[in-house]
Amino acid sequence: LDTLRWLDGINAIEMIDQTILPNTFKYIKLKTVEQVARSIEIMQVRGAPAIGVTAAMGVALGATRFRGADRDKFFAHMDAVCARLASTRPTAVNLFWAIERQKRVMQKNRNKSVEQITRALVAEGKRMRVEDIAINKAMGAHGATLLKKNSNVMTHCNAGSLATAAYGTALGVVRAAHAQGKVARVYADETRPRLQGAMLTAFEMVHEGIPCTLNCDNTAATLMAQGKIDCCIVGADRIAANGDTANKIGTYSLAVVARYHKIPFYVAAPISTIDYSLKSGREIPIEHRGADEVRIVNGGKPVCPDGVDVYNQAFDMTPARLISAIITEKGVCRAPYVKSLAAARNA
Ligand code: MRU
Repeated sequence: LDTLRWLDGINAIEMIDQTILPNTFKYIKLKTVEQVARSIEIMQVRGAPAIGVTAAMGVALGATRFRGADRDKFFAHMDAVCARLASTRPTAVNLFWAIERQKRVMQKNRNKSVEQITRALVAEGKRMRVEDIAINKAMGAHGATLLKKNSNVMTHCNAGSLATAAYGTALGVVRAAHAQGKVARVYADETRPRLQGAMLTAFEMVHEGIPCTLNCDNTAATLMAQGKIDCCIVGADRIAANGDTANKIGTYSLAVVARYHKIPFYVAAPISTIDYSLKSGREIPIEHRGADEVRIVNGGKPVCPDGVDVYNQAFDMTPARLISAIITEKGVCRAPYVKSLAAARNA
């Protein structure tokens, strides 16, 4: 599955529209920065690494839409492009990491022509997509070493191919381990309110022929109590320097029940998801989204009475002490994470 790609001929981004999966598999073409920003906001593309690559390509797309050769005007235009893309979603740090990386490309090439700078930005956007896939495969190889033969793996949300350029983080580990005969079955939490587990993770697993059982989020503890789960593997949107991890709402409760049942709880994420500037998870900005995501399931009739208050926090924070290991492309990090994550950055 190619989540997104750059179209050279027309300088546009093509991506799978994830809001209509699994029933409709369709690529959409984005030709303006506003379309790219909206695609992130309404979650046609989602998942931290995929959002990062989209933003990098969005910056490049913005450059290709500038007319003229005046560098000052070009840089002013690019400031607006970067600000719009940065305003889309607050939690996944890959978004800001990708925009900063493109800003560095502009800075490095600042004395070149607008055309040359634009070419450098397009090349960097495409490079980040290719790099992301290689990083996920490395993460998969490291993570697979943690699994025993015939493991039953529970995951939450979608940290798969669709959440990245391809291959996935948590599901990248599943893919690598499955190829080694280590995965008996994946248990996918459906992941209310947006149902990424049902719509995306289950779709990927069925597509690939990896045995998968879909369960309601509130069934996770019972499956563990029944001895059906050997480990949990989830992705991350932002990890603080101490290992505290922000991920899809419900990740924290999964980590709590996993600890209660003495089941290993692993986080798989690239180094670009680690925000070394934050000492602890308390500093991670957490997105809240609109009430309709909770009120209405998949475009149907409201499932609650009009006028009821809704709480829709999109991510939660899992304290590092509940995490058995953090799998990165540089290797498997264990507590104390302040040390191991710093070492992985420099490895
Ligand atoms: O709101 P989403 O769908 O963007 O949330 C996605 C997640 O929480 C993923 O687990 C995370 O981004 C890691 S994706 C490899």
